[in-house]
Amino acid sequence: MTRVALLGATGSIGRQAIEIVEANAGLELVAAASGSEPIDGLAPLTQVGGDLTDLLDRAEPDIVLNAVLGFAGLPATLWALERGVTLALANKESLVAGGELVLAAQERGGGLLLPVDSEHSALFQCLDGRRAEEVDSLVLTASGGPFRGRKRGELADVTPEQALEHPTWRMGRKITVDSATLANKGLELIEAHFLFGVPFEKIDVVIHPSSVVHGVARFRDGAALAHLGHPDMRVPISFALTYPARAATPVPRLELAGTTLEFEAPDLETFPLLRLARDAGERGGTFPCVFNAANEVAVEAFLDGRLSFLGIADAVDEALAASDGAPARDLSELVEADTAARTVAEGVSA
Ligand SMILES: NC(=O)c1ccc[n+]([C@@H]2O[C@H](COP(=O)([O-])OP(=O)(O)OC[C@H]3O[C@@H](n4cnc5c(N)ncnc54)[C@H](OP(=O)(O)O)[C@@H]3O)[C@@H](O)[C@H]2O)c1
Repeated sequence: MTRVALLGATGSIGRQAIEIVEANAGLELVAAASGSEPIDGLAPLTQVGGDLTDLLDRAEPDIVLNAVLGFAGLPATLWALERGVTLALANKESLVAGGELVLAAQERGGGLLLPVDSEHSALFQCLDGRRAEEVDSLVLTASGGPFRGRKRGELADVTPEQALEHPTWRMGRKITVDSATLANKGLELIEAHFLFGVPFEKIDVVIHPSSVVHGVARFRDGAALAHLGHPDMRVPISFALTYPARAATPVPRLELAGTTLEFEAPDLETFPLLRLARDAGERGGTFPCVFNAANEVAVEAFLDGRLSFLGIADAVDEALAASDGAPARDLSELVEADTAARTVAEGVSA
């Protein structure tokens, strides 16, 4: 029996994870956490808000599914990897913001890091433990979001309701807006760099509207392995929770007849957050942390009606310009960089 601690149990990923756990006799939910929603009785141990590592200390799980939203998920990510506990990571923000610290924790504790993000789960499977020198490059696919094909001038007045209408994935509000701005693909670019140790110039992003191909790994012999499937997060959640087995899920099989696969280059003029993320990742240090923090604040301001859609990129740009990006030697220095970036972004969003 695998003892699962589920953090972010009330969210989009959290609810789908509960479905997977309930359908699988080999999985047992021993602890659950949310940010503010009541979850009494959901698991033997529950916690609403507060320090999630307290709950993890008490629960002693075999696997932590971190589906918390945002930078708040970082302590739990570090907790699992430091202790050699398997981490199923949906909370990409913790790896983006704390990349070096997260990898150092994994190095010390030896915890297995299994990506839940569908693109990274796909790449993890395509790479299948291949040596770095065999890998030529990686490709992350992006749906392009609800505003694909529009030009910058057409996005000045778009509303949160329009940004929340994602064409292929049903997700939480923050990641749905991130998909509309392409910030999500920027976060995923940095996530892939840390997960797979591949340099940024060898990670491409391509727009693929139907979201059937989740990721492609290209190898030095000219072969390219792709991972295909319906856009349904229960697949990568189940893969991570039952790894290395592949447990059955209710997701229908993919029929190829009638499935068309289209790809196009992203429009970086209209969606500058992807370019800003790549730049932040390449510069390293705390620039990815600053990118993430400013984006979190700006997306919230956009959803509250305090900031325009195009203002999200402006807020992130300003926070990056105001930062020296000095590397964080420990968690408290990272929290400092995060807080400073939030202050700049809040100033832009006020
Ligand atoms: N949704 C997807 O399909 C998808 C796909 C790939 C990756 N991800 C990633 O998975 C993570 C979760 O996304 P989501 O779409 O599931 O978000 P969501 O629907 O907004 O849910 C967020 C969850 O995090 C909890 N939470 C927020 N702050 C917390 C805190 N300080 N302590 C404990 N719990 C806290 C929320 O609790 P309350 O309900 O109480 O606020 C909720 O359970 C994000 O990092 C996202 O990028 C999501």
